[in-house]
Amino acid sequence: MTKQHKRTTITSALPYANGPIHIGHLAGVYLPADIFARYLRLKREEVIYIGGSDEHGVPITIKARQEGISPQEVVDRYHAMIEQSFREFGISFDIYSRTSLPVHHQTASEFFSKLYEKQIFTEGTSLQLYDEATGEFLADRYVTGTCPHCGNEKAYGDQCESCGTSLAATDLINPRSVLSGNPPVMKETTHWYLPLDRYTPWLKEWILESHKDDWKTNVYGQCKSWIDLGLQPRAVTRDLDWGVKVPLEKAAGKVLYVWFDAPIGYISATKDWAAREAGRDWEKWWKSEDTRLLHFIGKDNIVFHCIIFPVMLHAEGSFLVPDNVPANEFLNLEGDKISTSRNWAVWLHEYLTDFPGKQDVLRYVLCANAPETKDNDFTWKDFQARNNNELLAIFGNFINRTLVLTDKYFRGKVPPLDTALTSSDIETLNELSLFPGKISSSLDLFRFREALNELMNLARLGNKYLTENEPWKVAKEEGLPRDVSPVADEPSFTPTRTGNILHIALQICASLSVLSEPFLPFTAEKIRRMMKLGPLAWDQAGKRDLLSAGHQLDQPAYLFEKIEDALVEAQVEKLRRAPEKTAEEDTPAVLPAKGSITYDDFSRMDIRTGTILAAERVPKTKKLLRLTISTGVDTRTIVSGIAEYYEPEQLIGRKACFLINLEAREIKGIPSNGMILMAEDPDGKLSLVSPAGDPADGSTVK
Ligand code: 2FM
Ligand code: ZN
Repeated sequence: MTKQHKRTTITSALPYANGPIHIGHLAGVYLPADIFARYLRLKREEVIYIGGSDEHGVPITIKARQEGISPQEVVDRYHAMIEQSFREFGISFDIYSRTSLPVHHQTASEFFSKLYEKQIFTEGTSLQLYDEATGEFLADRYVTGTCPHCGNEKAYGDQCESCGTSLAATDLINPRSVLSGNPPVMKETTHWYLPLDRYTPWLKEWILESHKDDWKTNVYGQCKSWIDLGLQPRAVTRDLDWGVKVPLEKAAGKVLYVWFDAPIGYISATKDWAAREAGRDWEKWWKSEDTRLLHFIGKDNIVFHCIIFPVMLHAEGSFLVPDNVPANEFLNLEGDKISTSRNWAVWLHEYLTDFPGKQDVLRYVLCANAPETKDNDFTWKDFQARNNNELLAIFGNFINRTLVLTDKYFRGKVPPLDTALTSSDIETLNELSLFPGKISSSLDLFRFREALNELMNLARLGNKYLTENEPWKVAKEEGLPRDVSPVADEPSFTPTRTGNILHIALQICASLSVLSEPFLPFTAEKIRRMMKLGPLAWDQAGKRDLLSAGHQLDQPAYLFEKIEDALVEAQVEKLRRAPEKTAEEDTPAVLPAKGSITYDDFSRMDIRTGTILAAERVPKTKKLLRLTISTGVDTRTIVSGIAEYYEPEQLIGRKACFLINLEAREIKGIPSNGMILMAEDPDGKLSLVSPAGDPADGSTVK
């Protein structure tokens, strides 16, 4: 249940300051958080929206080493760039802080000390990889070697990017230090662990019972899998020299694990914000029972924000735990995963240069396509179509027609509303009054796409009203515009039917200026300027008297302009030219035929049709699903690397083909008995091979 609250603390994941922001970050995290913050501000609720850069972590030190500069220089460069691009895009943080600030080091260090004093941590020694040539312990990312699962020779010590398996550096075959290239040796080291296992009963009650109904199913499901699989203690310190020093004498040369310090960054950022102006209090945003805490993140951050950070906050004892974590799935680009290393991305700073003044177009497209319940795709064709056919043809067209007609017939003054209203007037005004509530209902449930669609429905209502009532025809009949201005100076002038229609259309425009603000803040501002409207609150929208008769409007101007083919084609071309994307990757070839086999070879394979009874993600992996299969012969478990192509719920109940006499093997500790057959296209995309008819489970495939 969402708790009763007086104020809301909104955080959005602190991006690593080792690269620029791309549209995937925006659609998944920053845009929904910004829309929500703007919405609450319009509702005149007490709200703070916290952001900042995550400036620790091994990728930053690796980048510094590669470029021959210090980690601080790396984060200085990207922090400035990220902050500027967010600002220009209208992400309305109350503070955009950074974790290399002293206030953060002090806050994180005190947090660790408090848990240490409360004897929350366990201390443990382990053998870790060590580079004797440089005298340094090697963080996971500093070790590469061969993946024991798929044979990729460039797997990292924490993950194989080829098969997606999470690894420990000690799992790698033929490991090498990134620093010296030498094989590392094992050396004993001591670390402090957060015993997540001890908090399992609390997590079960807090998440699995209390938040069953209000957390998104993707978030709840991931948490449940982690908890069901059994939580393990997590080391919260590392042998590194870049990060927050562990505040213990015996821990010289160690820093806090970046995922321990980064979420504390939300708290330090709030302190940073409070310190910038006298009289501001940071504590109520984190400790008052009447505060609601919301974390906006992408799905890869769920475990940190729903399990690890809440356990830290709960163990510390004086902090609130999050009320909701509306995590999103991922956004793809032109059918392919966004990839920083392959430069397959639309970078925010480049968009802002290539499309000056068009922040709201991107905001609109990313919100309309937000990966709220499943991964989604951004294409430049869709970007163009949504601008031309929706923003321009529906929203912009309605506002423009209304303002231009008012200018033409009434010299830009709001005409009075006659008391004799038609049924079309009354219905339209009644419908108008429902929109703030409808949009709120969607936003309150973090359904941003649905909310945006409702906003557009209000513009559609306006267009329908104008089309039905044809003020341009009525004006002719009424002899408008008149040579002598029909507009008396003040306060009202003779009512006309044309005036009635435009009065009502103008009230809709005024409501649109309020309700569009969270989604399209630059456009809302333009409408307000053209209509000379002062600040209005969310609850005033939908009313029929936001403008009074005689109010003078400014000259109308277009809100959106048509995006021509050439503009988006240039963007597609730019993507295709992305240096790291090789020509081979672009035009994948069909594999050549394999050598021939005998019928005997084929008939040794026992392939059957069966039904997928259950499917769930294998925690800590990106690609694996655990499937329960009815093969006709038996019911069994098969682990399959298809999670990138199918959501578990898409598979349940589907018929497919299975190789049932493949030798059983263990994958991520789960015995897997057989193989589900998939078609792999030249891009590597997998599709289920399903029988066309409805054969009984256990039918042989030959
Ligand atoms: O995944 C990331 O980009 C992390 N830097 C997010 C950190 S969120 C928070 F904990 F600070
Ligand atoms: Zn692998």
